[in-house]
Parts: sequence; C-alpha cells; structure tokens
Amino acid sequence: MSFHDTISTKSIAKSRPDIENIAIESNTKVLNLLLEKVYLEGGYDFRDYKRGTLMRRLDRRLYATGTKSYLEYIQFLDTHPEEYGRLANYLTILVSGFFRSPYTFQQMAGLVLPELVLTKVNQGEHSLRFWSTACGRGEEPYSIAILLAQFLGDKLGDFDIQIYATDINRQALREAEAGVYSRKDVESLPPGIRERYFVRNNGGYEVRTEIRQMVRFSHFDLTSTIKQPFTDLDCLFCCNILIYLQEQLQKRLLSMLYEALAIPGYLILGEAEVPTKNLREKVKCLDVKARIYKKNGEEWGII
Ligand SMILES: C[S@@+](CC[C@H](N)C(=O)[O-])C[C@H]1O[C@@H](n2cnc3c(N)ncnc32)[C@H](O)[C@@H]1O
Repeated sequence: MSFHDTISTKSIAKSRPDIENIAIESNTKVLNLLLEKVYLEGGYDFRDYKRGTLMRRLDRRLYATGTKSYLEYIQFLDTHPEEYGRLANYLTILVSGFFRSPYTFQQMAGLVLPELVLTKVNQGEHSLRFWSTACGRGEEPYSIAILLAQFLGDKLGDFDIQIYATDINRQALREAEAGVYSRKDVESLPPGIRERYFVRNNGGYEVRTEIRQMVRFSHFDLTSTIKQPFTDLDCLFCCNILIYLQEQLQKRLLSMLYEALAIPGYLILGEAEVPTKNLREKVKCLDVKARIYKKNGEEWGII
C-alpha cells in the first residue's frame, strides 16, 4: 500500500476512523519493511530518516517504476537490483550551492578563522584540517577552500590544508572530484571570485588547481556506526543534512562529529539546522543564526 493508497483509504473511511487507523498502521509497517530491505539488501540505511520527506520522494520512485504500492515496489527491487542505487540517489537530496548561506561563511571568516589561525600560529602549528560531512557535488568544500585562500592570502602556502569532503552519493562525489560546474552553478558568485578561482572549460567553469588540491573527496555514510574516518579536526561543516534525520540519529551523528573535533574545534551547522539539546550543553555558541559552535573539551556524557 502506498502513501497515495493511504490517502484514498482515508477519504473512503471518512466515517470510519478505525479503518483509517488500520490503514495508516499497515502502511507504516510496509514502509518499515521496505526500508529494512533497502538497508539489508541495498546497503543504504534510511531507517532513521524523517518519514515525511522520505515518503514524498519514495512515492515519486513508485511513479517512475510504475509500481502502485510499497509492496509492489518491494517486489520490483527483487527483480531490478539496480533500483537500490537509483532510490538512494533520489532520497539523498542534492540541493546545494557555492557559499550557500553567505551569512554562515561571513561569520566563519569573521569569527572562526581569525581565532583558529592565531591559535595555530601561537602553537607553531601549520596544519588546518576541515571536514565537509555531506559535501554533495563539492560546492561546500570548494567554498571553504576559496574562503581559506582569500583569508590567508599570500600566507596560504605556509599552511598544510586538508579539507576532507564526504558524501553518501557516489555520483555526486565523482562530479565533485571533476570540479566542473555549469554557468548556472556559478552565476551567484561575485565575478571577482569566479575569475580568480575558476577557469573556463567547454562552456563550464572548472575549479582552479590551487583550490582543488586542498580538497579530498571520499565516500562516507553518516548513518554508519563505524568509527568516524577523521579525528583532530579544526573545523567541521554539517549543513542541511540533520533536517532530514530523526532526532535519535541526529544525536548519534552529532556526538560522533563532536568526538572528531580537536580542542579547540569548531562545528558549523548553518542556518537551516536546529542543534540537539545535548550538543548545546557541550559547546559554546559563537553565532546563534549561523549555528557556529566551539568545542570546549567536555566529555559527551549519556545521550
Ligand atoms: C541538501 S544536501 C546539502 C549539501 C551541503 N552540505 C549544503 O549545505 O549545501 C544534502 C547532502 O547530504 C547527503 N547525504 C544524505 N544522506 C547522507 C548520509 N547518510 N551520509 C552522507 N551524506 C548524506 C546527500 O547526498 C546530499 O549531498
């Protein structure tokens, strides 16, 4: 039974709330079954994603595959295993952009970078380690790299910069690594930045080598329970991803990201996210709108 089926059952059973409840309950059970199958057989774990967005997107895959219910879609997956990847690509929403939240990057330049770089210099340290945890097609990590290039200016070469950029979507990672964007992708950038950090490439815009070589792309699933791949990070971006996850998964993820940060370390969630209470208790808030936090070294404690 699909979401649409539930809606129509709803209208049929207007006068029979007991029937409606049974329909919704059974729909939820089949959806859980489907998500369990996608996890066990497809290797993608969407079990703790928020149901609303998930169901809206799933319904579009049902439409695209000509299946009329979650049950039919489950059978379709058995005969078309390539659908797992398509579904995963479809459920992981790729909307992004260079300097997507200008305010967040402005605050990063004003609040985080001066303090971070000064601390490093005082410690006689020259490494800067960043992680863009859901990097999509690369716009976010390249924006971080461009900001660092602008901020450090002719001192850029004095630092050993690593921007790790991970995502679950392998196709997006391939595009990110290629670093070539359409005119539309870069049109919102100030012309100065476009000219300085991109080169024209077959009608598109390719990120210049000096920026690309700061970024390392790899695959990582944020729902994974294996240990985080990076530690001792100076600054971490986790933007526009928590909103799609249920609270329990948000908590687990944030605790993992907190562990990955050095002390001091900065966590940037951006304007769209709402941090969980247990995170707020552990970190100092530097900017409430851009949701920029500084790790103050407390143990994470029980969630
Ligand atoms: C809306 S985009 C946000 C991209 C970028 N962070 C930004 O703020 O513009 C969400 C990204 O999260 C990625 N994503 C979704 N689920 C994920 C998971 N379990 N692990 C890693 N990345 C995931 C998607 O592939 C997509 O690139």
